[in-house]
Amino acid sequence: MLPKTYRKVVAARFTNHFRDAAEIVETELKPPAPHEITIRNHYAGVNATDVNISAGSYTPGSKPPIDLGAEMTGEVVAVGDSVQDFKVGDWVVTNSLGGYAEYYTVRARFAIRVPEATPEILSLVLSGATASLGLNTVGDMKSGETVLVTAAAGGTGQFAVQLAKLAGNTVIGTCSTDDKAELLKSLGCDRVVNYKKEDLGTVLKAEYPRGMDLVYESVGRGMFDTCVDNLAIRGRLVIIGYITEYLDTPEAVSSPRIYYKLLGKSASIRSMFLMHFIKQVPEHMAQLMALYNEGKLQAAVDPTRFEGLEQVADAVEYLHSGKSSGKVVVRF
Ligand SMILES: NC(=O)c1ccc[n+]([C@@H]2O[C@H](COP(=O)([O-])OP(=O)(O)OC[C@H]3O[C@@H](n4cnc5c(N)ncnc54)[C@H](OP(=O)(O)O)[C@@H]3O)[C@@H](O)[C@H]2O)c1
Repeated sequence: MLPKTYRKVVAARFTNHFRDAAEIVETELKPPAPHEITIRNHYAGVNATDVNISAGSYTPGSKPPIDLGAEMTGEVVAVGDSVQDFKVGDWVVTNSLGGYAEYYTVRARFAIRVPEATPEILSLVLSGATASLGLNTVGDMKSGETVLVTAAAGGTGQFAVQLAKLAGNTVIGTCSTDDKAELLKSLGCDRVVNYKKEDLGTVLKAEYPRGMDLVYESVGRGMFDTCVDNLAIRGRLVIIGYITEYLDTPEAVSSPRIYYKLLGKSASIRSMFLMHFIKQVPEHMAQLMALYNEGKLQAAVDPTRFEGLEQVADAVEYLHSGKSSGKVVVRF
């Protein structure tokens, strides 16, 4: 029996200060429409971009309230009349907007069946798929190259490091603490740069003078500039995010246009936003699941415990503190 109502976190007003935007509301739990399934949430994934969602950037033209959260995993508790692929009791993951909810109703085609609902498996569907698509589909990752991953010990960075290693590359990862550096070494990172202790640009120039063939960049500002300055001939930099600007106004920069830095090296800057690759997620998720099941891919989950809708804002702030390591999740 489904409950008559459920609770979820919505942005009651648009601001990138997640706690100020977020409100818990109680709403009716309607039966799923013919092509939908209803999921009881076990874990929601926390993402850097939650503050962009709460600012309304993902829903241009819409007015608050909007649902918050971007991914969740749980148990199917009801299926619409036309749904063939799922039954009650299946475990699924989904990365549609609105994961910070006790129940979630979604079109069945946006759900992926998984063997169980765990934080590790949840971390593959958004963070893992972003790394896989960013490196392979957009970054044209090859073997025998030098790959730099920024925010490498984070939710998505950890997968970028491992996938680049699995493809046979030399991998450099940046992070800000010794604990994260240990995690990165355990994931096979060849050179860890704790940017609080070492200057990334100096390390790259001294140890990798040929430059970076591929960069998975999600930090922005000075980190982005250093990455661009250290691209190899025919190097590719994939913009995944720019977290240093999410809680701030855009930094205005005045310098010669970017072609001065790129053309002389035939280098390129590309970008990858998962929502534009959503149809390819199941295929990448299947590859990641296979690697995970074979023990070739680890999924690090931050051990800090956040429980229930009441702690969602704490979890988002924790991720933005820069202290988290691996994937941050909220348990239900
Ligand atoms: N394009 C897409 O579709 C897509 C999908 C998923 C994620 N992303 C992007 O990937 C990046 C990482 O996201 P995530 O959810 O996986 O987060 P995360 O990496 O788990 O956490 C963010 C990490 O960023 C680093 N960081 C550097 N400067 C920071 C600052 N000023 N404030 C806070 N953190 C800072 C911190 O690690 P260190 O300081 O140790 O480096 C921090 O732990 C974000 O830019 C996000 O928007 C993009």
